Amino acid sequence: MSVVRRAPLLLLVLAALACEEAAAPDAPDPLAVDGHAFVAEPAVGRAALEASLVDPTNGYSALRLARYTPERWGALPAWRPRVRAIMVHERGGSPPTEGFEDWWGARADDALPADRAGIEALGARAFTHFPAQVVPALRSVLGDAEAATTVGLIPDADGRLSGLVWVEVPGGVEPALTCATCHSDGVAGRPNMAFDLGAVYDLAAQSRTARGRWGPGRVDVTGDGVDNPTAFPDLRPIRFQTHLHRAATVRNGLLPLAVRIETLMITSTGEAWRPPRSVAFALAAYLWSMGDALPPPADGAGRAVFDATCARCHAGEGLAGAPVPIDDVGTADAVARSPDRGTGRWRVPSLRGVADRRLLFASGGVRGGVEELLDPDRAAAGHPFGLDLPAVERRALVGWLEGL
Ligand code: HEC
Ligand code: HEC
Repeated sequence: MSVVRRAPLLLLVLAALACEEAAAPDAPDPLAVDGHAFVAEPAVGRAALEASLVDPTNGYSALRLARYTPERWGALPAWRPRVRAIMVHERGGSPPTEGFEDWWGARADDALPADRAGIEALGARAFTHFPAQVVPALRSVLGDAEAATTVGLIPDADGRLSGLVWVEVPGGVEPALTCATCHSDGVAGRPNMAFDLGAVYDLAAQSRTARGRWGPGRVDVTGDGVDNPTAFPDLRPIRFQTHLHRAATVRNGLLPLAVRIETLMITSTGEAWRPPRSVAFALAAYLWSMGDALPPPADGAGRAVFDATCARCHAGEGLAGAPVPIDDVGTADAVARSPDRGTGRWRVPSLRGVADRRLLFASGGVRGGVEELLDPDRAAAGHPFGLDLPAVERRALVGWLEGL
């Protein structure tokens, strides 16, 4: 039999296979399965928490192990506040009395959309509209257009001010940060290097002396009593990170990330409420999807230099890797040694998307991106890798990193 005469049969078989493929989308998406389990069953989040904490004795872990239970944090009311985006023309005005949005609509219970697209869309909405931290101190800054610009509150093309929202709270309306305030500069996930929360507090307190205690793009998030502000991290490569936090506090995964977001929102509002678990999971799923937009590492001369000099730590498709001893790196280490989050090691950060980052290292000690990182005369201490490369190789390496 000739190939030609067999072709119709082959086509039939292929067509049948294609039909089976077309039927496959009915199979549940693992992401949606995880999400529905997380929302319905508190034990799922609890198990993810226990498995993901690297050092159960540090402050971050001990607090969560004690309180992330159905009786304690699980019993807090789920907060579904009405919000309204703060627009640039509202600088100098007083809080609005109308126009608030009930953006989860009929989602009165803790329901999660059925499929991945719906879940990620909910996460994207929460990223720019769910209040992550109510900051009354912003009121005095919003009342003064010059001060608002000084602290890095910058309008986007639609006139929205750095992801801020007015939120209804008991007894009134207050301004709040959303995730986007620190974690978006117009491109979601990319750090907002201009935003200076320390200056917001200092301006509100009329304290000019301590003004800008952390500087733009940095904040001290831990209550560990140590002065260790960290640069806003780039969230786009989050799914490539082996661990969450610079100090490698949490083994990474979609569910551990959802728990991390849920518990951070509980602690950052004084344990008064919890976010709906659907919102915590949707945010995690949305962050997880951000890596899709990052270019895969290319080949080229710089790649060979990287493989020889850097890849023992920054490895694999994520250009990330297992945590390393703090002393092997030697950058400003108050972050890694935090009694709250420390594990004795640094996380090796993913370099996917690094071309867009200016503040590097946990401390933000390098302010000029990879060019400055590899400058042998740079001021910031530590991470000496690549500093002794011949100039030609160093240029090739910088060029390659700037394509990431
Ligand atoms: C006031 C600014 C600010 C706001 C608002 C904020 N974050 Fe962050 N975020 C930070 C800083 C600073 C860190 C670094 C902490 C560290 O590495 O230990 C961080 C770390 C993270 C991390 C871990 C990143 C990593 O690489 O390990 C995630 C995930 C995250 N934030 C998500 C969110 C989400 C989701 C929201 C909204 C609910 C949010 N953040 C709101 C400043 C902020
Ligand atoms: C011994 C392991 C190790 C080697 C080798 C290494 N790095 Fe790193 N790298 C780290 C760690 C750990 C950090 C985080 C340090 C900090 O946050 O202060 C880091 C941070 C960085 C950062 C900053 C990322 C950010 O978002 O803050 C860049 C960029 C970077 N490394 C590039 C390189 C390049 C390029 C090389 C090779 C020339 C290299 N690294 C070699 C472990 C290593």
